[in-house]
Amino acid sequence: MEIFAIANQKGGCGKTTTATNLAAALALNGKKTLLVDLDPQAHASLGLGVEKEIGIYDCLSKISKNKCSLGDIIVNIGPNFDLAPSNIMLSTLDQELSDEIGRESRLFDILKEAAGPYDLCLIDCPPNLGLLTVNAIRAADSLIIPVEASRFSVDGVKRLVEIVDLVRERLNHPVDYRVLVNNFDSRLRHSFKILNKIKETFGAKVFNTIVHINVKIKEAQSMAQTIFTFDKYSRGSKDYFSLSREIISGEEAIVDKISQQMKKIVQKKAREFAPVTFEFSTEGVNSVFVVGDFNNWTLNDDAKLDKVDGVWKKRLNLKPGAYKYRLVVDGKWQEDPGNPNAEKNPFGELDSLLSVKQ
Ligand SMILES: Nc1ncnc2c1ncn2[C@@H]1O[C@H](COP(=O)(O)OP(=O)(O)O)[C@@H](O)[C@H]1O
Ligand SMILES: [Mg+2]
Repeated sequence: MEIFAIANQKGGCGKTTTATNLAAALALNGKKTLLVDLDPQAHASLGLGVEKEIGIYDCLSKISKNKCSLGDIIVNIGPNFDLAPSNIMLSTLDQELSDEIGRESRLFDILKEAAGPYDLCLIDCPPNLGLLTVNAIRAADSLIIPVEASRFSVDGVKRLVEIVDLVRERLNHPVDYRVLVNNFDSRLRHSFKILNKIKETFGAKVFNTIVHINVKIKEAQSMAQTIFTFDKYSRGSKDYFSLSREIISGEEAIVDKISQQMKKIVQKKAREFAPVTFEFSTEGVNSVFVVGDFNNWTLNDDAKLDKVDGVWKKRLNLKPGAYKYRLVVDGKWQEDPGNPNAEKNPFGELDSLLSVKQ
């Protein structure tokens, strides 16, 4: 399970919007996705129409009277899309765990146990850099940092990246991060100016996908829906679908690279061998084997010929070289009658000769 934390201490930059709609897009792509609402304000849960007394607090807390495991709180939102909801109780966790050893790894421990059924997990962080956000960074493989094209502050993101560095050093957990430009208004020159500044500052860390300002996004939230069920032809749907493809194709690119390497190795190996077909045709025979230098004269299933249209055949891939071999027909050893090249062996019988060229 790959885990993404959607974090930025700045409120209103689009964390919750991204968490819910990206989770829905990933699920649409067939990825089994878990969305963890880690904000005591529970905007992601409420935005999906989920209001529960039991939530992620009861998994993270050690003293909750409803103490339970992640599986007990999961709410199914749609195909491939599950939610671990939150509620206001989560705001007490910071204080409750203040003396606990390993308090930064509570979420990491819980998600490790729940990894089984999910391909991907998104964590919606609260708008601060407290214990909950540190837990999310500790649990995540990668951070998605939404920034607004209208009100972007480099310093805010730099503070967050400092925390990422701290988690790497103190907890020995490397986390990558990517920046997502949100609320982009293509009618404003100002938006383009800020976009350039973001790209100058973060370079390749910026997602190619940009989320445009789109009123349908707000409307969907007020109707407790994702943008895909609310209006799948909206600009917002297109943008979040494109973001999901960018995230998934990142994964596919790695798999592709590995399979290309494998292909090259197999092709190289294949060039070292040449295919040779042994054939034998006589009526009333039950089994034929071919044994020789190339298989250490071993009589096993790999040496057995198959009967195809009345002819016994075996194709072997052999390295170039000179070989001696014999056939074993119904248990009796003999030379290959189809091969005129043969020489006497020390027992006075004939070994067939084979020369394999590249
Ligand atoms: N691309 C967008 N277009 C229109 N409204 C947006 C967009 N992104 C976010 N919003 C709105 O901005 C507000 C704050 O977004 P939200 O995702 O709740 O931010 P955060 O979780 O970072 O506090 C919400 O009302 C949301 O509907
Ligand atoms: Mg939020």
